[in-house]
Amino acid sequence: VTPQDLAGLDVLVTAGPTREPLDPVRYLSNRSSGKMGYALARAAFLRGARVRLVTGPAHLMPPPGVEVQRVETAGEMYEAVLQHFDSVDLVIKAAAVADYRPGEVSPQKIKKQGQAMQIELARNPDILAELGRRKKAHQLLVGFAAETNDLEQNALAKLTGKNLDLLVANDVTLPGAGFDHDTNVVRIFGRDGVVEALPLMDKNRVAQKILDRAAKLLQSRQGA
Ligand code: PMT
Repeated sequence: VTPQDLAGLDVLVTAGPTREPLDPVRYLSNRSSGKMGYALARAAFLRGARVRLVTGPAHLMPPPGVEVQRVETAGEMYEAVLQHFDSVDLVIKAAAVADYRPGEVSPQKIKKQGQAMQIELARNPDILAELGRRKKAHQLLVGFAAETNDLEQNALAKLTGKNLDLLVANDVTLPGAGFDHDTNVVRIFGRDGVVEALPLMDKNRVAQKILDRAAKLLQSRQGA
């Protein structure tokens, strides 16, 4: 039986990649499929939460019962998340948001020109860091970190630097972990110093493990 430990709570999940246009037919993006975020949205709904899923372009069936909001760019994801942030209890940011976008979007298809060309990139807003600044005492913020090296050091820097409650780090170089796989290998870092290192498992089970930890934290706050 699925525990109803998120009943009555509002949960916001982000998933998928963002697409940053360069011209009408080209964009910069990444290999995120949305599977991790969709699994989290589905699991949170099954545990009784009202769930909004803000998703970048993904070829997945939206989980039943979940309010889906589709976005394309990091800027659109920023607007969508900020619009709903004040009214949610838990935010889980599994989306792979582009850190940079083309500084200029050409209104026409860019033509071939010479042997090399340069594209200037502009920094996107860090959505999670902004949520960390705005977070109220009752709100729980869960971030992800996709790392290829120095996992623990980078994870802890994101956990404290972005004022998160939990940080889920995946070493995306491990077989079966990270982008586009049905499985993942994660470590969950808490502010209490507790680190849970999970073996390779299906993303639906990873989602349950993340929600176990988040639900406990929410309960301990309500009891406090
Ligand atoms: O979608 P799948 O194919 O299932 O793959 C899952 C995943 C690998 C994408 C997922 O498990 C994951 O790791 N998601 C986060 C990927 C990422 O962008 O990590 P990051 O270390 O660059 O970002 C750290 C955190 O800040 C993330 O929670 C991210 O959503 C957030 N962020 C990053 C940049 C930005 N401009 N705004 C943000 O909010």
